[in-house]
Amino acid sequence: MSHTGIEVTNEQVALQSLRWNGHQLDLLDQRLLPEEIVYLPLETPVEVWEAIRHLKVRGAPAIGIAAAYGVFLGIRGLDARVDELLAEVQKQADYLATSRPTAVNLFWALDRMRARAEALASAGVNAADFKQALLDEAKNIQAEDEETNRLIGEHALTLFADGFGVLTHCNAGGLATAKYGTALAPFYLAKEKGVNIKVFADETRPVLQGARLTAFELQQAGVDVTLICDNMAGAVMSKGWIQAVIVGTDRVAANGDVANKIGTYSVAVLAKAHGIPFYVACPLSTIDLNTPTGSDIPIEERHEDEITQGFGKRTAPQGVKVYNPAFDVTPNEYVTAIITEKGIVRAPYNESLRSLFE
Ligand code: MRU
Repeated sequence: MSHTGIEVTNEQVALQSLRWNGHQLDLLDQRLLPEEIVYLPLETPVEVWEAIRHLKVRGAPAIGIAAAYGVFLGIRGLDARVDELLAEVQKQADYLATSRPTAVNLFWALDRMRARAEALASAGVNAADFKQALLDEAKNIQAEDEETNRLIGEHALTLFADGFGVLTHCNAGGLATAKYGTALAPFYLAKEKGVNIKVFADETRPVLQGARLTAFELQQAGVDVTLICDNMAGAVMSKGWIQAVIVGTDRVAANGDVANKIGTYSVAVLAKAHGIPFYVACPLSTIDLNTPTGSDIPIEERHEDEITQGFGKRTAPQGVKVYNPAFDVTPNEYVTAIITEKGIVRAPYNESLRSLFE
């Protein structure tokens, strides 16, 4: 039992990355999974910022949702006029935007909260209605994400046949979103529909989102999942066990270059070498037409401890130089298709991605 959190057993509650409980944001502490299921009660933007930065909540859509609630938490206790509340929304959104740089969903969700606040202020609502409407906007972002992911799953499943082996990297599942996930959504739908898919989950160094989160949530749901180390992907492909790869993404550039968890690029190259399709699943909120190419995507670098002493045991010499980028960019030529809630698009991505927004 955590000192600050509420511990629950698997039987008591279906896993949910975050939920508004009427008073605060209850956030599943993903650092503790799979061993402990602890919901942290978050009551301030600082707590939300800290949760995002330290991976208590992670995954592009989930951090956007958390940040949206964070904006509301920043204004709900203020006794202020609407113009003052609007200024505070802008300030908190700017602050929350500094929590992590790569996933564009974070900035998308914050922009949506800003835009809603500006529209409410222009409409001349009172302070109580302003606050309520911003809470509702955060709830809407969360609810829409669930609906969006189900649609992504429906489209993605059309690409898989009964008996397929499908490899995934990192965690783009229910834990990374409001529900279902993006890349993992077709596996949940396949289970519902009785379609037999064998999932291979890369463990995903350095902090093991594949082992701790993907293997965990799929196993909980009764999906057939096999955990492998990252350096085994080529071997299982060469055995003929993999018919498709599907991953999520933190940002898709206008030309179809895809930023995702470090190691994704290597998987894409391996897939191409084996003639295996490489699919990327994401909501439209992850597609950033304002970022022309993958080299324009800011790539987060994280603390060396994740590599030298992740999980409490030192596994590298003191003082060794470390490079720890959290994401890499897969060039568009490796991306067979991008699966969104509006359907499946293929190259040339400059045109097909733009058409999704028309
Ligand atoms: O560092 P993380 O765990 O936030 O990285 C997450 C990923 O790379 C996911 O694949 C991506 O955010 C898509 S989640 C639907």
